[in-house]
Amino acid sequence: MSAASQAPEYIRAISPYQPGKPIAELAREMGLPEAGIVKLASNENPLGMAPRAREAAMAALSGIERYPDGNGFALKAALSRRLNVAPEQIVLGNGSNDVLELAARTFLAPGRSAVFSQYAFAVYPLAINAVGARGIQVTAKDYGHDLDAMASAIEADTRIVFIANPNNPTGTFLFGAALEAFLQRVPQDVLVVLDEAYTEYLNATQRYDSIPWLSRFSNLLISRTFSKAYGLAGLRVGYGIAHPEVADLMNRVRQPFNVSSVALAAAEAALLDEEFLAQSARMNERGMAQITEALAELGLEWIPSAGNFVTFRVGDAAAVNASLLRQGVIVRPIASYGLPEWLRVSIGLPEENARFIAALKQALG
Ligand SMILES: Cc1ncc(COP(=O)(O)O)c(C=O)c1O
Repeated sequence: MSAASQAPEYIRAISPYQPGKPIAELAREMGLPEAGIVKLASNENPLGMAPRAREAAMAALSGIERYPDGNGFALKAALSRRLNVAPEQIVLGNGSNDVLELAARTFLAPGRSAVFSQYAFAVYPLAINAVGARGIQVTAKDYGHDLDAMASAIEADTRIVFIANPNNPTGTFLFGAALEAFLQRVPQDVLVVLDEAYTEYLNATQRYDSIPWLSRFSNLLISRTFSKAYGLAGLRVGYGIAHPEVADLMNRVRQPFNVSSVALAAAEAALLDEEFLAQSARMNERGMAQITEALAELGLEWIPSAGNFVTFRVGDAAAVNASLLRQGVIVRPIASYGLPEWLRVSIGLPEENARFIAALKQALG
């Protein structure tokens, strides 16, 4: 019998996460020059990283022979000032993906369950399954979270409810009032993980502040990232904010040095670059209009999105995707989410969006 065959059944049952295709991979496969490829597949910031973050990252390279500050003192202090929370309420992660997994490892185990929505971010079932817990998937409403059904789906052994707002890959959005009402309904001993990876892209009418809820709901964990609007996806840094006891438990299972020194320095500097954030949100709004106007012109259905991406229906998504790839445009097929007729495109620079639109027209014949 092999060592591999001895992995627990719940591990063997996991289907691997399918990331967006890297530019270098498509270049190799199609014999295309990398410079001619447009990647709109992983909801990255097309403007790159905040200039202040770049400077801080470069400066942090001197000193790279030392381990990072495992407690992330300076970044936590900066977040604490910015968000008006205590440093003891913060858990830093190797991307917010790490925060989601830490929540699962801290509160789930075989014999426990977690609730998440159909079409919600793929990492929730992965994190749940990796610790041998049971996932309870709740049917979506209009491609988004059905909060009433999710509250009703909580069982005696449920320890976590995952909510993405906005959700990826559908871009659906829940107003703050609905989330607050949901928190009031969820039992105090069930952790609500509110994943706000795209919160910086919300417009003025959508914007809400979940931080003050922490003082009323000791079962709330808010998860955020520097990967999206801050443009630091490759550095891997995110954070969770929760009741100090929740944060303390999560910090116990965290790897001691889970965030690199370069990432810590860059994130701290990025927090100060408000102009870059505003510029990123403005560019996203214009790009969203550019792309959705083209989708409308092509007579395609799309799901209104509050994020930096939009999911649209093409029918034979595999064939359309293959054509886009041949033309050097990478988007994200989402058949693994149970949406085989749909593709997701991230909003890029105006000229990248134009390349995508032209390639899509060509692909649809
Ligand atoms: C909803 C959502 N949450 C969390 C993440 C994780 O991102 P990161 O680990 O880069 O912070 C993503 C990434 O795509 C996402 O879409």
